[in-house]
Amino acid sequence: PAPGWSVAADVVVVGSGIAGLTAALRCEAAGLTTVVVTKARLDDGSTRWAQGGIAAALGEGDTPGQHLDDTLVAGAGLCDEEAVRILVTEGPDAVRRLISTGARFDTDDAGGIQLTREGGHHRRRIVHAGGDATGAEVSRALVEAVRARGIRTVENALVLDLLTDAEGRSAGVTLHVMGEGQHDGVGAVHAPAVVLATGGMGQVFSATTNPAVSTGDGVALALRAGAEVSDLEFVQFHPTVLFLGADAEGQQPLVSEAVRGEGAHLVDADGVRFMLGQHELAELAPRDIVAKGITRRMQELGTEHMFLDARHFGAAMWERRFPTILAACRAHGIDPVTEPVPVAPAAHYASGGVRTDSRGRTTVPGLYACGEVACTGVHGANRLASNSLLEGLVYAERIAADIARERSEGALHARVPEPVPHPGQPAHPLLAPETRFAIQRIMTEGAGVLRSAASLATAADRLDALHTEARSALDENGKTAEPGIDTWEATNLLCVARALVAAAGLREETRGCHWREDHAERDDARWRRHNVVRLNPDRS
Ligand code: SIN
Repeated sequence: PAPGWSVAADVVVVGSGIAGLTAALRCEAAGLTTVVVTKARLDDGSTRWAQGGIAAALGEGDTPGQHLDDTLVAGAGLCDEEAVRILVTEGPDAVRRLISTGARFDTDDAGGIQLTREGGHHRRRIVHAGGDATGAEVSRALVEAVRARGIRTVENALVLDLLTDAEGRSAGVTLHVMGEGQHDGVGAVHAPAVVLATGGMGQVFSATTNPAVSTGDGVALALRAGAEVSDLEFVQFHPTVLFLGADAEGQQPLVSEAVRGEGAHLVDADGVRFMLGQHELAELAPRDIVAKGITRRMQELGTEHMFLDARHFGAAMWERRFPTILAACRAHGIDPVTEPVPVAPAAHYASGGVRTDSRGRTTVPGLYACGEVACTGVHGANRLASNSLLEGLVYAERIAADIARERSEGALHARVPEPVPHPGQPAHPLLAPETRFAIQRIMTEGAGVLRSAASLATAADRLDALHTEARSALDENGKTAEPGIDTWEATNLLCVARALVAAAGLREETRGCHWREDHAERDDARWRRHNVVRLNPDRS
């Protein structure tokens, strides 16, 4: 399609979860003209689905130092300590600013913020809203604020590629836009600062807590743009996802860690609390340890799931504290008030992503990343529960401050590029939409909770075959799938899947949420470092 639609701004923010909308609000407040582009509707990303809450040292007796310690322990030796220090120190004020922006969190009778606990936290430090609907409230507040400030938003616009100027600096993005004015097809936003806030890539696996839009678009863009991507092997599998059958596909209902934080027990079919004795925090151990404990027990007993037992909460507490989870369970014929809930691990969160420094800058000048798409270094090998929304908040604010500083120093303006012609045809092959399911099966079988050199090699070969087939069709016959949101998503999923499998194959140890059957121990001598992935242009 001929490029038809384009706009110009100081900043284009790609994505509309907590990170993207916070970045947009702070950029706009700093006087920068800001455009938010998002693939579906403003509230369709992962933020809306967050249950547990936002971690911050707000409680009496709690300190950023204690939050730092818990984060470093969960991260299994791979956190960037300075990045974590920034997160936990700036976190409490960032949460207060979110409240000023309009988010309403649950309070106690005296009006103080209620705090809960989740895995890996030694204290109650998680703020929540609507009981277990924290993300929905955060999303509501941010979307309303963005609309009230008149920030330009473009929905149904899937980001394709980074535009760069002659010096290789960011100059905007191309988009597949649906229904902007009369325009359907490739468009562009020209801007010297590009903020990626596209969220995660959970859809690379068959069963995930992530919504259908989490297809790794930002990481794929960054790889194609030559940016460094790091720690992709650390995919976090949430321990307690409602089990709906071994062949369940797509987004699955989460059963928040906060349910365990309030006292639920993990049990097997005989009612045995198998996490006791495995870790001092038992069911509230860091997430990787609980996911492994469940998987091991499932293997020992030859079963497909374990159970979460919170019958002792009683109906009133379930209804008040966990209304979303209660409704989801009941919609699937399970009543947590009277029976244990079947649960199993499912893909939940990408701890790695586009590598950034403490200002959110990637290795491509003018390209920033924040939220799940980024790898700031705060999560290491395993993210601590409820640190994700916090990271989105804190680092989005730092990015806005950095762009504003660049502008005040004249650097941003100096970078305003000549409009670059945007491509009518993709330079790389596009995959048919149904390839998405083949990728998900390959990844679930070969690169899921438990991995080995053999399983990863098989996955790599099968993914390469999908790529080769698409590449040959383009090179030999000029044929590629019809450009559209679903073909781009399948193409991006393949791109991130190949990078993830390559990183997981390289890391010959077990650390955090990367679990290698053939290298069962953590190996600090060889592996206390990050796997940085760059796209090899010859294999693109
Ligand atoms: C949950 O509520 O269990 C999810 C929290 C998180 O992913 O940090």
